[in-house]
Amino acid sequence: MARQPIVMANWKMNKLPEDARTYIESVANAITAYPSVEPILAGQDVLLQSMVEAAKGTAVEIGAENVYWKEEGAYTGETSPKVVADLGVQYVIIGHSERRHYFRETDEMVNLKALAALRNGLKPIIAIDEQIQTVSNNEHMHWIVNQVIEALKGVTPEQMTDVVLAFEPTQAIGSGTAMSADMAQKDLYLIRETVSDMFNPEIAEDLRILYGGSVKPENVYEIMRQHDIDGVLVGNSALDPDNFIELVKLTH
Ligand code: G3P
Repeated sequence: MARQPIVMANWKMNKLPEDARTYIESVANAITAYPSVEPILAGQDVLLQSMVEAAKGTAVEIGAENVYWKEEGAYTGETSPKVVADLGVQYVIIGHSERRHYFRETDEMVNLKALAALRNGLKPIIAIDEQIQTVSNNEHMHWIVNQVIEALKGVTPEQMTDVVLAFEPTQAIGSGTAMSADMAQKDLYLIRETVSDMFNPEIAEDLRILYGGSVKPENVYEIMRQHDIDGVLVGNSALDPDNFIELVKLTH
């Protein structure tokens, strides 16, 4: 089965509710010209309701940037995956390297969150990172493989149809310089082979895997030419709606 390409913006902790509405209104019409691409916008929790409302009736899909691994209870400050799904949000980024770094999220937490997202009808986009020090001491393949194995523990073959993985080398995030497309291809191939070993070749072949880390209109074509790269997860560049439209157009 052909893997539909994804262009996803990760707004991180940026934008006001009005910005979210005007951004979605400005991209919604333009991207109808590129129906082969799945456009997703991820915003911080307090923006989700206005994002879902603005996206109603358009091709734009909405993602959250994190959820907790329980549906309700005494967990001050956390966000329920059930409430996010009930809002009409379709996707959720899980285990972004910034959450692993700043908020000490462990592989176990990432796995619990991925299972909770699936349990509540959210499609998890599970981030796999690459720490530069693992590259220098040649441990990066083990580092990547281990993250995939730990993140997908307990996910059933049937649930894998709703899972997306995203490879984001930390040294490329926010740096302005993406990993070379052929290097990224090697790491995404490793991720796909790991999934094949965990489940089966068909599930691995159907799985969509994104690349993230300084993607912009100038480099997206070369990135998307790679066989195992099925889309991009974009931070800084996609804060500008015109860039998001251009990324969708160049991915179409
Ligand atoms: O999740 C995507 C993000 O981490 C990449 O950020 O600014 O390098 O595109 P950026």
